[in-house]
Amino acid sequence: MFGKRTVGETPAQVSTPRPAAPAMPKLAAAPATPAPSPPAAPVAKAKPAQQTPKEPAQSGEFRSEEYYRIKSTIFNALIETIDLAQLAQLDAASARDEIRDIVAEIISIKNVVMSIAEQEVLLDDICNDVLGYGPLEPLLARDDIADIMVNGAQTVFIEVSGKVQKTGIRFRDNAQLMNICQRIVSQVGRRVDEASPICDARLPDGSRVNVIAPPLAIDGPTLTIRKFKKDKLKLHNLVEYNSISPAGAKILSIIGACRCNTLISGGTGSGKTTLLNTLTAFIDPAERVVTCEDAAELQLQQPHVVRLETRPPNLEGSGTVTMTDLVKNCLRMRPDRIIVGEVRGPEAFDLLQAMNTGHDGSMGTLHANSPREALSRLESMITMGGFKLPSKTIREIIVGSLDVVIQAARLRDGSRRITAITEVIGLEGETVITQDLLTFEIQGEDANGRITGRHRSTGIGRPRFWDRAKYFGLEKELAQALDEAEGS
Ligand SMILES: Nc1ncnc2c1ncn2[C@@H]1O[C@H](COP(=O)(O)OP(=O)(O)OP(=O)(O)O)[C@@H](O)[C@H]1O
Ligand SMILES: [Mg+2]
Repeated sequence: MFGKRTVGETPAQVSTPRPAAPAMPKLAAAPATPAPSPPAAPVAKAKPAQQTPKEPAQSGEFRSEEYYRIKSTIFNALIETIDLAQLAQLDAASARDEIRDIVAEIISIKNVVMSIAEQEVLLDDICNDVLGYGPLEPLLARDDIADIMVNGAQTVFIEVSGKVQKTGIRFRDNAQLMNICQRIVSQVGRRVDEASPICDARLPDGSRVNVIAPPLAIDGPTLTIRKFKKDKLKLHNLVEYNSISPAGAKILSIIGACRCNTLISGGTGSGKTTLLNTLTAFIDPAERVVTCEDAAELQLQQPHVVRLETRPPNLEGSGTVTMTDLVKNCLRMRPDRIIVGEVRGPEAFDLLQAMNTGHDGSMGTLHANSPREALSRLESMITMGGFKLPSKTIREIIVGSLDVVIQAARLRDGSRRITAITEVIGLEGETVITQDLLTFEIQGEDANGRITGRHRSTGIGRPRFWDRAKYFGLEKELAQALDEAEGS
């Protein structure tokens, strides 16, 4: 793809025509204007190309070995030329302009033959390496990606439309990848290294990040990003995507509005957080809501929301703030509802207690493959949290607190569906009794391999939360939605 004529220069020689010291004062004096010096001619040529659409290579296509070789030579020359300390003082746009100028100059001096479009790709790549998150940048810019999974420097996968695919993106080496991981986590005051190789963080745009580094990750630093969706999915979007039927969506909105205590269950990446977020849209704006999360992902639109986040231990291993601490603290914050991003430990007990003691409409998500499994997981979380209660007592607490379990699933075709809306009815002996209001019935596959099916009501006309719906004046709507669900 890229050709290169013989150049006798080493990176050190390249740096000679543009020593760092004189270059940067010029920058400082006029940071926003690119250098008009003659060697910068390629930049002048390259500029109009900035307006042209990005090359496909920008979004993760495979690039040739030759490209990476040239990039590495130019990058090394650049690093010897620029004064990083001074660059750090510039705003992002001016710094980018400056790097572009110098890189264009290096390209011309080294006689690298490439088209303007190719040069643009290279310029962008190098700017991203120096100023941003390097090879991740083009992936972060795409809104159709749900997850970015980096398994060491050479392997990057993405999830698009529910399908995982390999990209051509790669990092120079594990050191560059580790550097970028460090850059990401340090922005939220955390660190990741051999001593503390596991770290959760957040990108400035809200994307959730997890890093696990060697020696725990055997094949190099492993970075997982749940991309933040600029336009969060709303309930009507879930209907459009056939994740739920229109009648099912109406039932969900009533569950949200009439303050049912709700647990959203599902496998990893099945759409639990998204569903939780859509349900919160039906919370009355007058309510005070407190959210507790490991990495803040929820985006409530209500005016009265307090967001809390857990904290990992510091260097000395102290200062941890757990989910249990947060949920306990919530109770002293006069919340109307408590929302726990993900219930995974002993906080389950505190959440249930909160649901039971006047914080109706509290919600949380939990990893489980069915509503039944969600209830038994809840029970084991409480038992493992060290609460020495007989299992019947724990089940009584669960039954007395929880109203509804909503099951989310990612099906084998990559689609996300709500597969059950299930009520918790009561205890019979020691067995928790549940009843499904709505389930998803798989019918088959269409010509494109997409799973077809329908959401069907199980015929329950009076759910247990009927009186609650009535109290909120929503019983007619509920009856209508249940009728429609049955007819669909
Ligand atoms: N019904 C849906 N239709 C299409 N895409 C969806 C749907 N629900 C969620 N998504 C997308 O799927 C991705 C994963 O969703 P989400 O973060 O809600 O999953 P999760 O179950 O909370 O995952 P995790 O277990 O990792 O916390 C997101 O990019 C989201 O936008
Ligand atoms: Mg989630």
